[in-house]
Amino acid sequence: MGIISKDIKKAVALLQNEELVAIPTETVYGLAGNIYSEKAIKAIFNTKQRPFFNPLIVHIQSPEYLATIVSHIPKKAQQLANAFWPGPLTLVLPKKDTIPDVITAGKNTVAVRVPNHPITLELLKQLPFPLAAPSANPFNRISPTTAQHVENYFRDTIQMVLEGGACKNGIESTIIGFENNDPIIYRLGSISVEDIKAVIGEIAIKNKKEINPDAPGMLEKHYAPSTLTVLSSNIVKDLEKYRNKRIGVLSFKNRIDNIAIKHQIVLSETGDMTEATSKLYDALHQLDSLHLDIIIAEIFPDYGLGTSVNDRLQRAAHTI
Ligand code: TXA
Ligand code: MG
Repeated sequence: MGIISKDIKKAVALLQNEELVAIPTETVYGLAGNIYSEKAIKAIFNTKQRPFFNPLIVHIQSPEYLATIVSHIPKKAQQLANAFWPGPLTLVLPKKDTIPDVITAGKNTVAVRVPNHPITLELLKQLPFPLAAPSANPFNRISPTTAQHVENYFRDTIQMVLEGGACKNGIESTIIGFENNDPIIYRLGSISVEDIKAVIGEIAIKNKKEINPDAPGMLEKHYAPSTLTVLSSNIVKDLEKYRNKRIGVLSFKNRIDNIAIKHQIVLSETGDMTEATSKLYDALHQLDSLHLDIIIAEIFPDYGLGTSVNDRLQRAAHTI
């Protein structure tokens, strides 16, 4: 029998029993456990094979709950929370002493967000504790955007995936921290830089590719398919280079005709950035499962969500 279920009561019981449950969010599925259970938190790291130096995001049920997790809320953090919660914004703020060090990898800050998914909000309201949840994929693999993706990864290691449909946004939350009360983007994500600036004005970006001491999860090789993946801004031209290979193509908008492509996925025929972004990881999962020689992925237009997607594609791509 599969592990996918819609039973919120069962999810509540498992989580109260210090077990893990994969949960739907508007960004990607998360692998969730009670933030106060050492057993559950250790299981998250072990199940994902995630290094302990990489801290977790705490998911809370409402913006008001933030005050129980963090010790200080800068004015701009409050403005961002007002504008985007529930939603794909993660705030990194000074933690309260009650937040266990394993969650934050020993840092004195904690990452928090209110996810915008009705089922997970309902789940959080039924629990007496928040949920720590990294994306529900093995370390360095593509994040899951459907319950089936999670089951494919973890059918033998976790008991339940709470079914919540395909994730609407489809890439991870935007992470914002503060240094001397100045806001900094640590990870580009589901909320575009333009939309952030519209609320709080100028903001620095430290979305580094190397290990970033401020966002230790930002390793260069991340979100990677097993299949060799290359990026392209001119697919027709690049197809020539790989003529004798079994090629999969992931294109943003345009279908490519008359060329031997084994498999092709067009993310949005109308060039709609939101639609294309929401389908990106599922398309990568699909192409990866075909065991082709190479995936050629088209670079998105470099503005709005496209900038966040290009960041993910660069991390997914192999240098050859
Ligand atoms: O959309 C999302 O954010 C999803 C869903 C499940 O909420 N979660 C997610 O979690 O992407 P994860 O663990 O895959 O990525 C969390 C990122 C990591 O890069 C980690 O280093 C960073 O958040 N992070 C966590 N706590 C931090 C802290 N105190 N300071 C800086 N970065 C932190
Ligand atoms: Mg992740």
